[in-house]
Amino acid sequence: MQIIHTIAELRAALAGQHGTTCVPTMGNLHEGHLALVRQAAALGGPVVATIFVNRLQFLPHEDFDRYPRTLARDAELLRGAGCDIVFAPDEAELYPEPQAYKVAPPAALADILEGEFRPGFFTGVCTVVLKLLQIVQPAQAVFGRKDYQQLKVLEGMARQLALPTRVVAGDTVRAADGLALSSRNGYLGEAERAEAPALAHALATLAAAARDGSQPLPALEAEACAALRARGWAPDYLSVRRRSDLLPPGDDERRAGAPLVALAAARLGATRLIDNLEF
Ligand code: PAF
Repeated sequence: MQIIHTIAELRAALAGQHGTTCVPTMGNLHEGHLALVRQAAALGGPVVATIFVNRLQFLPHEDFDRYPRTLARDAELLRGAGCDIVFAPDEAELYPEPQAYKVAPPAALADILEGEFRPGFFTGVCTVVLKLLQIVQPAQAVFGRKDYQQLKVLEGMARQLALPTRVVAGDTVRAADGLALSSRNGYLGEAERAEAPALAHALATLAAAARDGSQPLPALEAEACAALRARGWAPDYLSVRRRSDLLPPGDDERRAGAPLVALAAARLGATRLIDNLEF
């Protein structure tokens, strides 16, 4: 496995290679990322994992500065998961001048849910992902369902900009108690870590009540938020949406068994967690 820091060296290493799969990450890897890398390796071609903490997708008060940079450990984990190349550029390599050209995803998809609470987040994500895909030029790129709205936004970008890269979804990996694995779980104290699976449980409860179709969704969502608040959480949203466009489903769609997803973001102490459940 090679560790490469510059675009020129990466292009040289990939010259003449076909069927590359890219797994973009911000590092501080866990079993969820490694499952995406194994999924990429199973596709047969070379696997390039990128590690870059992308300033463009953080708001000024967010955790850009304290986001853990753990390249040596990440590289060992990636080697074990079947990665061929780690591309870990520094900021000067990826953003040698201020990134003035940006990809603006549609507000209807990108300014809701996460986008409402993290304005500009998906512009930052799309811009860096498009840039990384231009650099790696992979046949496929794998993104986790854990970041469900991100996956939808990137699928739309690939489709509408006719990218030659196919977006592949990878399943969320969970701890035994149901907590979705996330780099930010490392911020949780012991008591918070014990409480954290309540987010996944809240989504399961909301999904079950929503499928029933007898009560209005806003009331169920408010109830789910209140239940978490009573346990000491500060929820940003718990919401049931259509999987296709992340818009609220009609009552008839709920009853007819349309493909839905429940999505949540909530703070536990100083840590903001997100999760989702397809149903
Ligand atoms: O999901 C992430 O880790 C990031 O948003 C991504 C896709 C690597 C872009 O920085």
